Amino acid sequence: MGENRSFWENEELKLEERQYEATWPGGQKAVDRLAKKDKRPVRDLIQELIDPGTQYFELSMLAGFGMDYPGVPDVPCGGIVTGIGKIHGNWTMILGNDSRVKAGTYFPITLKKHMRAQAIADQCGLNCVYIADSGGAFLPMQIDVFPDDQHFGSLFYNMAKMSAKGLKQVTLSTGGNTAGGAYIVFMACESIMIDKQSFSFLGGPPLVKMALGEEISAEDLGGAKVHTEVSGGADHLCQDQSEAVARVRDILSLERPQTLNLHQYQEQEPVVEKDAIYDHMPMSVSQMIDARSIIQCIADGSVFQEYKANYAPGRGDNILTGKIRIKGLPVGVIASNKVGIIFYEAARKATEFIVRCSQEKIPLLFLQNAPGFMVGSDSEHMGIGKYGSDMVRAVSCAQVPKIQMVIGADNGAANYGMCGRAYKPHFLFSTMRARTSVMSGKSAGGVLLSIEEGKRKRTGTPMAEEEKEAFRQKMIDKYDGEAHPFYCGARLLTDRVLKFSEIRDWLAMGFEVSMLKPVGDPSFGNFRF
Ligand code: COA
Repeated sequence: MGENRSFWENEELKLEERQYEATWPGGQKAVDRLAKKDKRPVRDLIQELIDPGTQYFELSMLAGFGMDYPGVPDVPCGGIVTGIGKIHGNWTMILGNDSRVKAGTYFPITLKKHMRAQAIADQCGLNCVYIADSGGAFLPMQIDVFPDDQHFGSLFYNMAKMSAKGLKQVTLSTGGNTAGGAYIVFMACESIMIDKQSFSFLGGPPLVKMALGEEISAEDLGGAKVHTEVSGGADHLCQDQSEAVARVRDILSLERPQTLNLHQYQEQEPVVEKDAIYDHMPMSVSQMIDARSIIQCIADGSVFQEYKANYAPGRGDNILTGKIRIKGLPVGVIASNKVGIIFYEAARKATEFIVRCSQEKIPLLFLQNAPGFMVGSDSEHMGIGKYGSDMVRAVSCAQVPKIQMVIGADNGAANYGMCGRAYKPHFLFSTMRARTSVMSGKSAGGVLLSIEEGKRKRTGTPMAEEEKEAFRQKMIDKYDGEAHPFYCGARLLTDRVLKFSEIRDWLAMGFEVSMLKPVGDPSFGNFRF
């Protein structure tokens, strides 16, 4: 037990180090360079923007690591800070370009992160604040960031659509906003510019000179005074960053207070020791877990009201279903248990429970540690395909908010049944124990080796034993490497890799934010049963 705890504490130290490093691109030198322009790092501005004493829930801090773009091996934090914080008591999505990372330009991962934040805001009904300081598209990769759907244009499309739904889009420009980037200022419902610090133009001075022969300074072409006094493209002129941040708060102070569409009971702490969760997480992902003990560490009063606890022992209990409260909010839980392989009985139980929670309009938590649905003739003949499909259908159609929390294996169709990214969970969190891939390294090594052996036999060059071993190991390393939370986090396959000790606070935030929009009525398609 103690061994598990020290193992995971050590793994989380690595996570902390990587996250810390990502928040200081360019080190002190880069901060000093900003200071020379009377600017502060974007996270300082965000701290000043949110309500005092509240937390900014920063998303996707591992984004961009090891992406190996042309000449740019890492893009710390994807070059943009995104997260959720409270402004005048209202949960708000706050995005800010980090100009220390290649002038805040947009790489493919920057776009993905920006749009993921907008998607959360849209799905949950949050206003957005953009702290804009960007050189626009990262030009060496223009074909990968400019012309397509989900490329640069989509940022502004999303702003327009959210604004049309009544979600306020506020832009605070703290630097350059050139070409496409200028639209973040002009598309906003209200925009703020800072004298001699913010610029916004469709073409910068060099382009203007080239196109028209006109020589003009950035200030005279598209500075804060030009846009607040002459063009009218921006709405508020401020003298410095602090005044501008205070202006954003003023603008949002007139917003209607948000309401929660779920009864919130009195919050209770879990009765088990706070960090006991570390003891219940086996070091190896293939080892059994005891999901009941894990749930007790997250639930108010450690109470888990289990549903169908006695159904099909040994097979039905590879998934646990039941209700808990997290900081007073009732939540339906579908949790992988033991080794997590999903038998048809477990799939049926989960489907039934998802439908029930949808009827009751209670949000769902998927605690994912499943390496797949059960294979083999017994399982196939008993209908694992159709019962698994029913589970996937229930997850797809359940209209209640869903959060996926990956605490172990996350492979194959179990990723679908347990509400992976394609099933549009409101939030998807993972931990250092998460391993997301189509199959485990061990399985991939075996499957790919048998394909390779067949090929080599047919061409008359059968594989020697050492060659087979080397091939298998190479595949294991590749698949296990790609399943690691650092690799998946870099590609935004999770909204945040959490420490086990952070799970409760983040789930409470996630469910509260997810329940700000009223929940509609359930409607499922054709189950097979
Ligand atoms: N694409 C690729 N790299 C860019 C870039 C872009 N659009 N804009 C800036 N960079 C790079 C610079 O080459 C520099 O790289 P380096 O650190 O390896 O030398 C780094 O980002 C910092 O740029 P720098 O110009 O030194 O920063 P700055 O704070 O003085 O100026 C801008 C920032 C945004 C005003 C200025 O870089 C600029 O005008 N960029 C071009 C903007 C543009 O025309 N974009 C069109 C996109 S649609």
